[in-house]
Amino acid sequence: MAREANRQEDGCRHRGIRGGREVSLPETPEQQSFYEAVGGHETFVRIVDGFYRGVADDPVLRPMYPEEDLEPAKERLLMFLEQYWGGPTTYSAQRGHPRLRMRHAPFHVNPDARDRWLAHMRAALDEVGLSPLHEETLWDYLSRAAHAMVNTFERTEIGPAAGTRADLPLTSEN
Ligand code: HEM
Repeated sequence: MAREANRQEDGCRHRGIRGGREVSLPETPEQQSFYEAVGGHETFVRIVDGFYRGVADDPVLRPMYPEEDLEPAKERLLMFLEQYWGGPTTYSAQRGHPRLRMRHAPFHVNPDARDRWLAHMRAALDEVGLSPLHEETLWDYLSRAAHAMVNTFERTEIGPAAGTRADLPLTSEN
């Protein structure tokens, strides 16, 4: 009898209580990772591909990437994002702890670089067309992460932002 009561109590722990009513929690989608929910590897590949297409033509960002070929950098960002959102943990297996701020320290990440990085991400996400909720969740994260990566407020000495800003009414030359 006592054993029976215990068993029932145990059973209840696997259920959620909402608004006083007991409801069985569905197996999915609450157990599904964000990675799976947005379409897994294929979706992340599309996002990262789109992003690096933008980087390849960016006069400020492109020179920051050390390799001639952007492929290895693309692979690192892909592995990181997949891992972060609940996919395979290949990033940590190959690269160890992300320590992203530290890994970005050698690069000149000022607000201009950040905004360019985000603009390419924005274009990539628009191309992929996630559902509004997934989109907002991912964008919110990327935007906060990009702001946290800024490590200098000094101007970039290359690219359009380095010279006189035609979009600003007052410059030192006026
Ligand atoms: C804010 C503007 C940013 C700039 C200008 C920037 C630039 C760079 C550069 C130049 C590299 C080196 C490329 C390589 O060899 O892998 C790099 C690496 C990387 N970035 Fe960024 N990044 C920015 C923001 C971010 C954000 C927001 C994330 C994550 C959400 C991120 C994730 C990574 C990762 C995972 C790596 C590879 C790290 C490693 O394992 O070595 N970056 N980034």
